[in-house]
Amino acid sequence: MLEEINELSLKLQNIQIQNSQELEDFRLTFLSKKGHVNRLFEAFRNISPEIKKEVGKPLNVFKKDVETLFEELKEKIENQSDNNNIDIDATLSVYINQPGSIHPIKAVENRLIEIFNSLGFDLSEGPEIEDDWHNFGALNFDEDHPARDMQDTFFIEKDVLRTHTSSVQIREMLKQKPPLRLIMPGRVYRNEAVSSRSNCFFHQLEGLYIDEGVTFADLKQTLYYFVQQFFGEGTEVRFRSSYFPFTEPSAEMDIWVGTNTPDDIRLTKGTGWLEVLGCGMVHPNVLKNCDIDTEKYSGFAFGMGLDRMTMLKYGISDIRDMFLNDIRLLSQFNGL
Ligand code: PHE
Repeated sequence: MLEEINELSLKLQNIQIQNSQELEDFRLTFLSKKGHVNRLFEAFRNISPEIKKEVGKPLNVFKKDVETLFEELKEKIENQSDNNNIDIDATLSVYINQPGSIHPIKAVENRLIEIFNSLGFDLSEGPEIEDDWHNFGALNFDEDHPARDMQDTFFIEKDVLRTHTSSVQIREMLKQKPPLRLIMPGRVYRNEAVSSRSNCFFHQLEGLYIDEGVTFADLKQTLYYFVQQFFGEGTEVRFRSSYFPFTEPSAEMDIWVGTNTPDDIRLTKGTGWLEVLGCGMVHPNVLKNCDIDTEKYSGFAFGMGLDRMTMLKYGISDIRDMFLNDIRLLSQFNGL
């Protein structure tokens, strides 16, 4: 037994360990339940008292040596630089955390804000839960006018989820005196059948300009400028006369998309034209509801839908895809 202890002690002196796997092998060989130390101590119990006397001390020294060596080796491995430690997979990507990205609708909104800021329009926002007066009444919707049915409304007790951002026009005209030049982005809600083209909530950007002598020509030129900036020089637009209770005259503006791809055809219902906004001269009744002198001031307003513009800009064919929070779609907009 003494011989074996001496042999193992000699072995200890020559042990070389490079990594944590080898450290573990060492621990198993020497210090585990079935390792040399335990095995020798078990054998020690069954030997004659004379041999015990002879072996006892060297065995204890051996045990101490093994334990000390193990601690030393462990410390060495722990301090070893990462490069030498094969436990570390150097081929793993360092980009463990995916950075967030701007949602494509937000990117479109940001670009619009930039364009209208350059024309002197300031930014404002209003609440998504509105009362009937701000969403309808003040905007010249009669109590039982069929125009209320144009916008299928979600009701919350006495209030509504705003059906358009035009409600923010009212809030601003009550708050500030003309001249006013504002854009008001936000989410709106309508109780509509959900499909690839329309959702029960979507995003608008409202514009309002009130000053002395504002005309329809100013409205057209402002919108024309925005289209050239946003969709590119030479983009064709058309105005169709329309009806909104809060503007007179009223119009809708389409841009020419064409019918080149199946997505274009679906997005434009086969016409090649995409409706992007409603607009008009602010109705005198609306100005009066906000205590603005209609003899002195006139103005225009417009409200555009951001979702379809986003789909067009980024070739997204289903409006619902933008709200699945699918990282495979969202990560494509990194760096916008
Ligand atoms: N609020 C209208 C809509 O949601 C758009 C609009 C805004 C029209 C401003 C005219 C003036 O359809």
